[in-house]
Amino acid sequence: MEMLTIDPATTDHKDLHQYILGTVAPRPIAFVSTLDEDGRQNLAPYSFFNAFSSNPPIVVFSSNRRSTNNTTKDTLGNIRKTGECVINAVTYSIVRQMAVASVDFPTGVSEFHKTGLTAIASDLVKPPRVAESPANMECRVKDIITLGEKGGAGHLIICEVVRMHIAKNVLGERNRIDPNKMDLMGRMGRAYYVRCSGQAIHTIVQDYLPVTIGYDNLPHGIKQSSILTGNDLGKLAGMVDLPTPEEITFMSQKEEVKVALSQRNPKTALHYLAKTYLDRNEVGLGFSILMLDQLN
Ligand SMILES: Cc1cc2nc3c(=O)[nH]c(=O)nc-3n(C[C@H](O)[C@H](O)[C@H](O)COP(=O)(O)O)c2cc1C
Repeated sequence: MEMLTIDPATTDHKDLHQYILGTVAPRPIAFVSTLDEDGRQNLAPYSFFNAFSSNPPIVVFSSNRRSTNNTTKDTLGNIRKTGECVINAVTYSIVRQMAVASVDFPTGVSEFHKTGLTAIASDLVKPPRVAESPANMECRVKDIITLGEKGGAGHLIICEVVRMHIAKNVLGERNRIDPNKMDLMGRMGRAYYVRCSGQAIHTIVQDYLPVTIGYDNLPHGIKQSSILTGNDLGKLAGMVDLPTPEEITFMSQKEEVKVALSQRNPKTALHYLAKTYLDRNEVGLGFSILMLDQLN
């Protein structure tokens, strides 16, 4: 891969901003509701956002100085005065209203009014929740860390979640959040977003205990395959054990395996056949087929 090398010290801030945002993506979006000292509502999206601890429950977002005039934002000002906010999840159903809330309305103008979203009372903090959002976190701010003084510099706002509300209609089995029902939006670089449902969702089941065999323990002929991809090798490396002789013998008796073994280049045929199993996530069966190549 030919790489573009970037030195932050000599790169124009606008470009650096886009390189970082295009790389650290997709980002979850905190839709942050605050009040000023007179109780006026404010609502704004922040995608420099993530969860950093679940015990205690800590989420962090960053309000940056504007690059245009180096001013700070209303959300930060409100939090400095009140120490409270509500972080609402941004779903596909409200993403265009979220975009309206990102407009730089004059201080004191309520983005609830501008977006048509509904403010409903929180239990433990004063800022309201967004009724249309299926998950709200009522937060008390523990700390604000200033990262710099120039345009683009962030202020990390470290929030402790003191109460959560989750719509029951986004829950699935065992009361866990079902990503398809939740339908969250993520932000990428520039005007790109990702809708986190349907084909965007990939399920990766990986055993953690007992430890898995790892790439280094894969047979040489498998590691050198010109047919298997890095993800295929990752699936094999994530198995807990190499296939047993019985499993390998079982696969060797399958008609399609016999056909592959009778080809002029049985190794290639076996690898192609094994890949069809790996693609269907029948990893153990595919692994056994690949081991036949090792035995020959
Ligand atoms: C999806 C999205 C994510 C954003 N993320 C951030 C962010 O992480 N930090 C930031 O300072 N501004 C971010 N912005 C811009 C702010 O939302 C925008 O400056 C807004 O006017 C700030 O509102 P406030 O002054 O009421 O706090 C984002 C905008 C959008 C649309």
